[in-house]
Amino acid sequence: MKCIRCKQKAKILLKRHNAAFCDNCFLYYYRNQVSKNIKRHRMFDKKDRILVVISGGKDSMALWDVLIKEGYDVVAMYINLGIGEYSNRSQEVVEKFASVHNLPLIVKDIKKEYGLDIYKLSKTLKRSPCSICGSIKRYLFNKVAYDGGFSAVATGHNLDDEAATLLGNVLSWEEGYLARQAPVLPQTHPKLIKKVKPLYTLTERENLYYVLLNKIEFLHEECPHSVGARSILYKEVLNRLEEKSPGTKQRFINSFLEKGRKHFQDVAEKLELRECKTCGQVTTTEECSFCRFVRICNQQEKQQDV
Ligand code: FES
Ligand code: ZN
Repeated sequence: MKCIRCKQKAKILLKRHNAAFCDNCFLYYYRNQVSKNIKRHRMFDKKDRILVVISGGKDSMALWDVLIKEGYDVVAMYINLGIGEYSNRSQEVVEKFASVHNLPLIVKDIKKEYGLDIYKLSKTLKRSPCSICGSIKRYLFNKVAYDGGFSAVATGHNLDDEAATLLGNVLSWEEGYLARQAPVLPQTHPKLIKKVKPLYTLTERENLYYVLLNKIEFLHEECPHSVGARSILYKEVLNRLEEKSPGTKQRFINSFLEKGRKHFQDVAEKLELRECKTCGQVTTTEECSFCRFVRICNQQEKQQDV
């Protein structure tokens, strides 16, 4: 197997592109994909300040590294969600990378800063920890970016994530989610910062290869709450399809973006946006879910003190 670029011995085969690369040419391919995605979707440019959200896993660590190497002005943000040892270990990985490379990092701790506890909330609201965690993360991504004057929030979502999310949304025809699934979510309100996914065409395997080649430390374990999550099942199903028919995931995403997504646009436009009565952030209800969470946790705290 020879590298399609330099004809030396290839190290990695990417079946969906019918291409094999040596390590150096793989890095060239990888960086090229990222910068093409950024430019093609006008995600941001060198004048913009970007907030990159880092979990400590391979995808976000790869994104952080590649954006710096491509010369973008990035500040990383890590959110400690209070998920036991998992959160502590991931915070360590992220802090170490920032300090070794002398990079700016914002750390948010939901327990220390806001008194939030996703387990208590999950019990009280009878919602899964993941859905509470998702709301909290989305809120903080936007709030920190808005308060800090950032142009965009970048996340490490990869092709496998995007295809699994799309499959889940299609299976139950979640019109609202389908309307909002895209590599770029533009600014639809002055207080809503643009969200971008520069790695949406790269697979988990490619991100893993990138961090290994660059000797970037990352947290190998997944969040304990992802075990048994439906998205994992969707990923398994898609992996079987991909195995038999390489390129399935990419085709699924690309054809949705080209042909499917436009049919859901009016659903997105109908959403009425307003500002939360407590914090002023954008929401669709009178009070945003984050402020409601803080209120619930504070009340519980007070009851315990009595
Ligand atoms: Fe949020 Fe797992 S990362 S619950
Ligand atoms: Zn609020």
